Amino acid sequence: MRFLALTAGCGSGDDGRVTTEPIELSDALASFDALWSPRVVTRVNDYDVRVAKVAGEHLWHAHDDTDEFFLVLAGELHIGLREAAGERTVRLPRGVVFTVPRGVEHRPAAPSGAAILLFEPTGTPTVGTRHEEIPAHVDVTTGHPLGF
Ligand code: NI
Repeated sequence: MRFLALTAGCGSGDDGRVTTEPIELSDALASFDALWSPRVVTRVNDYDVRVAKVAGEHLWHAHDDTDEFFLVLAGELHIGLREAAGERTVRLPRGVVFTVPRGVEHRPAAPSGAAILLFEPTGTPTVGTRHEEIPAHVDVTTGHPLGF
């Protein structure tokens, strides 16, 4: 039996194609150095799978229209959360998943650096739908294509 195949390629470009080749996450992470600047590894229906390298603090922001999924691939990620009951920080070591509910103000941070995988709707901006003043080290993006 033959199946039609899309043009093979690594990563998922702006054309929205689903990736048709296996992708080694360590290769994806090795292909860029920028911090707080996610790369789109592949797409699942209308969701992006993104990876990012992070260190220091991101900024307080909220995604009013979507939950945001985190998987820590290396290092430890801290996520500050402003919830109805008050403010707290969750500490996520490698291998841990966490979902920030839509509408909840949060601030990711990684004092010692981390690599993370994010799963969120295509087009979701890194700084959410509302945010504090954007510091210079934060890339405002909906995810960049992988460059390898
Ligand atoms: Ni967020």
